[in-house]
Amino acid sequence: MSAFYVTTPIYYVNDLPHIGHIYTTVVGDVVARYRRLAGETTYFLTGTDEHGQKIERAAAEKGVAPIELADRVVSRYLELWRELAISHDDFIRTTEARHAAGVRAMVERIRAAGDLYVDRHEGWYCAGCETFYTEKELLGDERRCPTHGMPTEWKSEENVFFRLSAYADRLLAWYRENPKSVQPESRRNEVRSFVEGGLRDLSVSRADLAWGIPFPGQEGQTVYVWLDALTNYVSALGFGQGRDPGSDQGLDSGSDQGRDHGSDQDGDALYRTFWEGAETRLHLVGKDILRFHAVYWPAFLMSAGLPLPTTVWAHGWWLRDQKKVSKSTGNVPRLDHLIERFGGDSLRYFLMREMVFGQDASYSDEGFVERYNSDLANDLGNTVSRLTTLSSGIFEGRTPPVACDDNPLIPLARQAAAEYRGAMAEHAFQAALQALWRLLAEANGYLVEREPWKRVKQEGPSEGLSRVLWNGLEAVRIVATGLLPFMPRTAPRVLAAIGAGEPAAGLDALEWGALPTGAELPGPEALFPRIDKAAYLAEVAAEAGGGTDPGTTHHDSLKRPSSVSAGAGVGGNTGGTMISIDRFFETELRTATVKAAEAIPSSSKLLKLTVDLGEETRTVVAGIAKVYEPEDLVGKQVVIVANLEPAKLMGVESQGMVLAAEADGRPILLHPAEPVPNGARVR
Ligand code: MSP
Repeated sequence: MSAFYVTTPIYYVNDLPHIGHIYTTVVGDVVARYRRLAGETTYFLTGTDEHGQKIERAAAEKGVAPIELADRVVSRYLELWRELAISHDDFIRTTEARHAAGVRAMVERIRAAGDLYVDRHEGWYCAGCETFYTEKELLGDERRCPTHGMPTEWKSEENVFFRLSAYADRLLAWYRENPKSVQPESRRNEVRSFVEGGLRDLSVSRADLAWGIPFPGQEGQTVYVWLDALTNYVSALGFGQGRDPGSDQGLDSGSDQGRDHGSDQDGDALYRTFWEGAETRLHLVGKDILRFHAVYWPAFLMSAGLPLPTTVWAHGWWLRDQKKVSKSTGNVPRLDHLIERFGGDSLRYFLMREMVFGQDASYSDEGFVERYNSDLANDLGNTVSRLTTLSSGIFEGRTPPVACDDNPLIPLARQAAAEYRGAMAEHAFQAALQALWRLLAEANGYLVEREPWKRVKQEGPSEGLSRVLWNGLEAVRIVATGLLPFMPRTAPRVLAAIGAGEPAAGLDALEWGALPTGAELPGPEALFPRIDKAAYLAEVAAEAGGGTDPGTTHHDSLKRPSSVSAGAGVGGNTGGTMISIDRFFETELRTATVKAAEAIPSSSKLLKLTVDLGEETRTVVAGIAKVYEPEDLVGKQVVIVANLEPAKLMGVESQGMVLAAEADGRPILLHPAEPVPNGARVR
C-alpha cells in the first residue's frame, strides 16, 4: 500500500496566526482528506517553529519568557485547527525533546559526511528571516531585507558552516531528473536559476543565541534555526529516536523526554513508513520560504544520506488591498469573526475556491460575503432545499421511490467526477471545485427544463417525477461527496439532508447511482443562511472600533491591555496619530443610563441596550455580551458616542456606541465615578 506524507511549514510563534498561515494548513488538510478517501495510507503533519532570535526578541518585547509566548501562540493554533476541522496526525513543536533528538541526529550525519567546518561569518543579517543577505540582494541605501523590507544589521561571528556549495550539481540534477521536485514549474525554474548562479556555503550555527538547540560538539553555538526547523519533517516521524536511519548502528540521543508528546513511542516506525518508504513526501510551503525547502533542505538530506522530498509545492500570497497580508502591515482579516459568523467550513471553502494554487489571491470582506452568498447560500444551499422540499412534499418525506440510469445528467456527472479527480491529483483545487459547481448548475438547468414543480400538479407522485427528482438529488450527492475533503463538517450534513446517509469511505462514491430510493428525509435544515452584505460590512466596520484598524480582535491580537474603544468594538486602534482638540470635540461623548438590555438572537457578542440620554432615549448595540449579563447593566450609567451615524447590526439599528476599555481582549465598560445627569457632555 502506498504511503503519502504531507506537511505544512511549521509556524513561527512570535505572533498569532492569520489567513496566510491557516491557508497552508487548510490545503494540507484537503490533500490529506482526499488521499485518505482515495485509500492511501496518509500522514499529515503541522506544527510550530519556536526557536531563534525572532522569537527571543518578540518574547522580550512582550516581557515574557520565549516558551510562555510559544505556549500562548500554540494554544491559539490548536484552537483554530479544531475550529477548522484540521485532521493533522501530529503537531510538532521544535521545543520538544523528540525534535532536539532528530536535530542532533541530523547534525551528526552531516558531520560524518565531512560537510561541516568552522569559519568566521560576516554579512547583512535580517532577524525577521534569520538569514544573511549579500549586498546586491538588499533594497535601497538602508540595506533593507528583500522579504521584510526592514533594515538589516551587520553581523560578524565564528560559525559552523555547511558545504552547500558542494551540492549545486547534485541539486541541479535533482531538479532536472525529477520534474515534480519543485512545483509549480515556474518555481522550479526560479530555484534552478538561483542554484545555477552559484551556491555559497551556509552558516548553520549562531554564536550569540540562547534560545535554540545547542550545536552538538560545538560549545557556545546554537543550531541555526532553519536547520533546526527543517528537520521537523523527519523528527516528528521519530528520526533520531530508533536505529540510526540508513545504518545498522543505534543512535542514543533521544533519552530526555521532558516536554515530549506525539510519535516517540513508535521509535522511528513512522519515519520508515512515511519518509524512507513513502511514495509521496510532499512539503507545502509559501513562495517566500521556497529556497529553504528546495535548496537547503534537499542539500542537508543529500549530505545526511536520506531520501529527498518528492515534491516541494510553493503557493502564492494572500493579499489585501494589493499588499501581502501580514501582522506588520496590519491588514489581517479577522479569523475568529469569519469563523463565528460563517463557520469554519465556509472559510475553508473560500480559501480553496478563491486562490489558484500557486498564484497570489486577494481577500476582501466584500468578496468573502459575495462568494459565500452566491456559491454556498445560493447554488448549493438553495438547490438542496429546493430538491428536498419537492421530494419530501411529493413522496411523503422520502427520497423518490424510483431511480434512473438513463438521463442527460449521467454523462455530465461522469465528466465532472473525472475532472474533479484529475484536478485534485494536480492540486488544482479551484478547478476541482469549479467542476463540482458546474455539475450543480447542470442539475439546476435540468430541473428548470423538467419543471417538476409544475408537473406535480398534473401528474401527482408519478414515476417520471420520481426519476427527475432522484436525478437532481443524485447529482447533489456527487457534489457533496467531492466536497468532503473541502468541507468536512458541512458536506456530511448535505448528504444527510438529501437522504444519502453517512458519507461513503472511498472515492467510488463519486460514481453515479448510489442515492437510496425511498429513504427518509430528515426535514429542512438551513445549511447556509444568506447573509445581508450591507449589514455585514457595517457590522465589520463597527467591530473594528469604527475605523481604521481592521486587524485585531481579542483572539487575533497578542496585545496586552490597550486602548479605550467605542461601542461594539473589541478591536483597538492604538494608532499613534495626533489629532487637534477641535477634532476630538467633533466626537460627542455623553453620559446615559441603561434602561433595558437584551441579548440579540444569533449573535454571541452583541447586546441591544436602551439608554436614556436625558433629552431622548436611544437604542445602542454593543459588543459586550461575552463579558456582561443584560440584567446586570440595567440602571448603570455609561458613556456613549452620541453623534455617530446609525448603523444596522444584526438587523438592529444602533444609534450610538458605548465606550469600553479593552483589557486583555475583553471590553470593560466605563462608568462616571459618581452619578451625573444623563446627557452630560464628556470631555
Ligand atoms: N517558521 C518558518 C517556516 C519553517 S518550515 C520548516 C516560517 N514561518 S511563518 O510563520 O513566517 O510562515 C509560515 C507560512 O505562512 C509560510 O509558508 C508563509 O509563506 C505563509 N504565509 C505568511 N503570510 C502569508 C500570506 N499573506 N499569504 C500566504 N501565505 C503566507 O516561515
